[in-house]
Amino acid sequence: MTSPTGKTVLLIIGGGIAAFKCHELIRLLKTRGALVRIIMTRAAEEFVTPLTLASLSGEKVHTALFSLTDEIEMGHIELSRAADLLVVAPATADLMAKMAHGLADDLASTALLATDKRVLIAPAMNVRMWNHQATQRNLSTLKRDGITVVGPNDGEMACGEFGPGRMAEPSEILAAIIAMLQPKAQPLAGKRVLITAGPTREPIDPVRYISNHSSGKQGYALAEAAVALGAEVVLVSGPVSLPIPHGVQMLPVETARDMLKACEEELPADIAIFAAAVADWRAETAAVEKMKKGKGGTPVLTLAENPDILRTIARSSGKRPQIVVGFAAETEHVVKHATEKLAKKGCDLIVANDVSAELGVFGGDHNKVHLVSAQGVESWPDMTKADVACKLMERLALMLVPHIRAAE
Ligand code: C5P
Repeated sequence: MTSPTGKTVLLIIGGGIAAFKCHELIRLLKTRGALVRIIMTRAAEEFVTPLTLASLSGEKVHTALFSLTDEIEMGHIELSRAADLLVVAPATADLMAKMAHGLADDLASTALLATDKRVLIAPAMNVRMWNHQATQRNLSTLKRDGITVVGPNDGEMACGEFGPGRMAEPSEILAAIIAMLQPKAQPLAGKRVLITAGPTREPIDPVRYISNHSSGKQGYALAEAAVALGAEVVLVSGPVSLPIPHGVQMLPVETARDMLKACEEELPADIAIFAAAVADWRAETAAVEKMKKGKGGTPVLTLAENPDILRTIARSSGKRPQIVVGFAAETEHVVKHATEKLAKKGCDLIVANDVSAELGVFGGDHNKVHLVSAQGVESWPDMTKADVACKLMERLALMLVPHIRAAE
């Protein structure tokens, strides 16, 4: 394990019985050369004393928001600014709720709102509080906001109950801190990645449209993973209800034709990933006014084929990205159909997934994919869409290297 030497950790201690574990965490961080600054919530003072924490950290412990001397010496903004990482341990249900909603009514929550640094939380609370929909909702929000979570662990709790809610051990929190402080490899630095995501929406009239169940989750996860590897990312997205990942340029589109136009305008790119579920057909002519019942009987919808965005760009000369990846959502013969698609579309890789309704891939957080390329088929186990995205982006970064070498 490497060490956080010279790094400043701002430790925010919430009011819970697990606060006593912070003594050990501070000791571990100090022995590894980190500077530990501490903020305690009012409730935390019921469990651990500022004096002990000050002795262990060798630093003044900050306890209240409106301390004039503190504001002059080191105000809440400065505490956040001077830190390399913020760690909330224990992160109580109350602190998590404040963070999720952007409340700032004491020093701890103000410092958390005033930061642009990475934040790690180690939740600790009663099992029922942890399982409560409100806490789980807040947890999802915090994860979406890019906050890293360590624990909680299962076990017997101070209240006598058993289940998830015990704060991660100081050694686990230390490992998470070290992982977060480690500079990330950025193999895609200086590379441009174009990603399509979500469904397209093809109008029938001003209020009706043809679309599909795509949630956009896999494409958005890919955009996030590409940014983490240092890429400049353009995400051309159909209508979805997902937050735009940090650092991503999102171009909203509705129809397949809009999506193609936006993609072409964003070329050149080094890598293009077509994760969108593009409607194959559109209404040949969309009615200008809302179609009315009873006027001339049941309308007959004439469909026209949409442009194939992946095929158009993979087969284009001149601006073809070095690596072109397609997705294949199939409900049967997944690998066979993907292999055929690889040739038909002219892409370098097809990521095939089974979207049979019983697997819950559409809208779900998991995906089981097969990578189909000229080199063969590689099947990955069931993973979260975020993990599929990270692994896939790392693979594409490796694939890009030979191209770079060849051009040198
Ligand atoms: O042909 P099929 O829809 O199964 O192919 C799926 C792949 O092709 C996906 O990568 C999808 O984003 C892309 N595609 C496209 N334009 C279309 C249809 C599909 O880019 N009109």
